Amino acid sequence: MTNLKSAFAAMLKRQMNTLIQYLLDRLQAFGRAVLKPSSVTTPWDSRAWLGGLAVLALGLATWTGCSSEQAAEDEIAPQRLFMFTAIQAQAHSTGVAAQRVDLGRRLYYDPHLSVNGTISCNSCHQLTKYGVDPGQAVSKGYNGAPGGRNSPTVYNAGLQFAQFWDGRAPTLAAQASGPMMNPVEMGMPAPDAVLKYLHSNAGYMKQFKAVYPGMKDPVVMENVTDAIASFEDGLVTPSRWDEYLKGNTTVLSAAEKSGLRTFMDSGCASCHAGRDMGGNSYAQLGAARSWPDQKSDPGRFALTKQDRDRMYFKVPTLRNVAETGPWFHDGKVQTLDEAVRLMGEYQTGRKLNAEQVNSIVSFLHALTGDIPQQYIQAPASLAPSNESADRGGQRHTTGYPALPMPQQGE
Ligand code: HEC
Ligand code: HEC
Repeated sequence: MTNLKSAFAAMLKRQMNTLIQYLLDRLQAFGRAVLKPSSVTTPWDSRAWLGGLAVLALGLATWTGCSSEQAAEDEIAPQRLFMFTAIQAQAHSTGVAAQRVDLGRRLYYDPHLSVNGTISCNSCHQLTKYGVDPGQAVSKGYNGAPGGRNSPTVYNAGLQFAQFWDGRAPTLAAQASGPMMNPVEMGMPAPDAVLKYLHSNAGYMKQFKAVYPGMKDPVVMENVTDAIASFEDGLVTPSRWDEYLKGNTTVLSAAEKSGLRTFMDSGCASCHAGRDMGGNSYAQLGAARSWPDQKSDPGRFALTKQDRDRMYFKVPTLRNVAETGPWFHDGKVQTLDEAVRLMGEYQTGRKLNAEQVNSIVSFLHALTGDIPQQYIQAPASLAPSNESADRGGQRHTTGYPALPMPQQGE
């Protein structure tokens, strides 16, 4: 953890250095231009002051990607990328940390954490399918009833500043108890029902004791969610994008680089940036132009009842976004092209043409990382046997080997 922290701090420092260096360069260049006597027409003494202001303006303009000379260049100046940060795969854990991850993984795949033993976290966030419920606008819960929002990916979720489309859970651990007791998700009547099942299982008891030693009864909800969150923390998917950010400019194709430029020039990076290409702010859906559907889901307003939160949602991560459709909080957008077009129109106020949309989409594909196949290997007894075949009506009810049904809570 401290390793990660110091690596992150070092990265931050590097990014700041490049930014400062860049601004200094511009300052010098502009200083030369301003101080050239022929170019100075104002009789004021405060030439330097004016020059300073102009430098700031120019810096800002270049910063937001408006410089046309830059666009003509083939490679994007690394300084322009300061708002993005590379991620790396989680270091392999050992000892108790590894056991905690194992426990979390088992819980993640265990359908017995749902009221009728039919669905697990993995039902709606399939780890072999980039952590979503592919093709489903909204996921169905334990009894087949649809939920209210699209299932977001669990990959790289831990890098976000808050969880859920409206950010109502601050951390993965805080998020994790929600689905088990959610009446349209896993439907458990109360935390006790979950704990009762875990207590009845000798294997789990052993694991909990090993991971949380010194507790009279380690099988408490706090530990259940802690273990799940530890497992989820390892669900990170670095991609070619990260190699690129680390300086290997050959890993992106010319089309992808040009897409990145279009992405930045279109103002997408004002919301989708940082480690997760999102996940670090809320924004109004319809920031530039009123979103057509103001009724179905008012976003954070439902949570805070503050008018200024109406239609505000967490800016989602764009990592793996090419694989996580259908898109948006309601899953109503069927193609990535359409998602990008809508973002252009409603978030940035620009009507992107087909070429620009294609260009951005090709860049977004570079954000697709590798699924950590070994890390997500389900414990043999819980492996979903027929994950993709049972889409639709009878989902997952036959996908799991029969395990003895635990006593349910009342
Ligand atoms: C029935 C489907 C379903 C099940 C089962 C389910 N989830 Fe979810 N999950 C969702 C939906 C839908 C959302 C978004 C809800 C919202 O934002 O209001 C979500 C949100 C999340 C998020 C937040 C991601 C983000 O980017 O904000 C995480 C993390 C998560 N679930 C993990 C889990 C875990 C862990 C489990 C098992 C304990 C689980 N889910 C079970 C459907 C499900
Ligand atoms: C003002 C902030 C803002 C800007 C600018 C912005 N976005 Fe978004 N983006 C969001 C928010 C908020 C959402 C979530 C919308 C929802 O579903 O409620 C989102 C969602 C998305 C999604 C769907 C993600 C998913 O998992 O469903 C894509 C793709 C996307 N944005 C791409 C872009 C592109 C490309 C641009 C530039 C043309 C852009 N965004 C500009 C805030 C922004």
